[in-house]
Amino acid sequence: MTQRPSWAPDEVDIERPAPARMYDYYLGGSHNFAADRELAEQAMAVWPDSPHIARANRAFLRRAVAFAVEQGVSQFLDLGAGIPTVGNTHEVAARLAPQARTVYVDNDLVAVAHSRSLLDGVANTMVVHADLRDADFVLEQARGLLDFSQPVAVLTFAVLHFVPDEDDPAAVVDAYRRATVPGSLLALTHATDDFQPERLRDMENVYRSASAGLTGRSHAQITALLPGYELVPPGLVCMIHWRPDPDAGPDPLDGDVSRYSAYAAVAVRK
Ligand SMILES: C[S@@+](CC[C@H](N)C(=O)[O-])C[C@H]1O[C@@H](n2cnc3c(N)ncnc32)[C@H](O)[C@@H]1O
Repeated sequence: MTQRPSWAPDEVDIERPAPARMYDYYLGGSHNFAADRELAEQAMAVWPDSPHIARANRAFLRRAVAFAVEQGVSQFLDLGAGIPTVGNTHEVAARLAPQARTVYVDNDLVAVAHSRSLLDGVANTMVVHADLRDADFVLEQARGLLDFSQPVAVLTFAVLHFVPDEDDPAAVVDAYRRATVPGSLLALTHATDDFQPERLRDMENVYRSASAGLTGRSHAQITALLPGYELVPPGLVCMIHWRPDPDAGPDPLDGDVSRYSAYAAVAVRK
């Protein structure tokens, strides 16, 4: 039996690996348990670039949030927000728009507990423990902070690939779209099997032992999640190609999109 750290909520099953804590491990964080680290190591044996991909994903988050603020959108609904790390949504947003409001949503109790302790007393932020597939509940909670008569940026970074086909991810996305006004945004990153299908299947197999399975999707399948949205240029592209930061250093994966196997997009609600 693994010893339960003092920061782990009692309700957490620390023997069951969870995507939130595996991702925390890829990013070099300390809010993970032995079971998470073991499965993350298995994932890295299949896909050694996972830590770089996680960092590129966070870099895209920062660019997408900054883009939203530039478009005049300063309300954020961050679905599957994860365990807080460097450059969280509310920090990026508040640097550019001090009045920005952020609601963080996650179904992982460690992510929620850590977010709550970090955001205690931080104005214009809120943390909701919920499954994003329960859009009615999430939206009801989010209305406590966000004004849905004004544009909202719905953020789904590295999370829709944890919603399996049988749970109809397009309908989930659409429930949030319908709750927002035209001019609102949706930002996403999503794993794809377009480039290395067999290796992606091996990753999906690793994640079968986690609390949520992974589903890689093709460019066409991810595009099909977004009816009622118009992609902003450059569209749905490899995450490193979405409006790259000109000051970023050399790409650690040599710009090889197949090693990332992850698409990113920002779209405007019509
Ligand atoms: C790979 S992490 C990404 C974290 C953050 N969005 C980022 O991109 O840095 C995926 C997160 O989604 C959360 N998640 C997965 N399925 C979820 C669901 N159905 N409802 C809410 N959160 C979910 C996990 O707990 C985890 O924190």
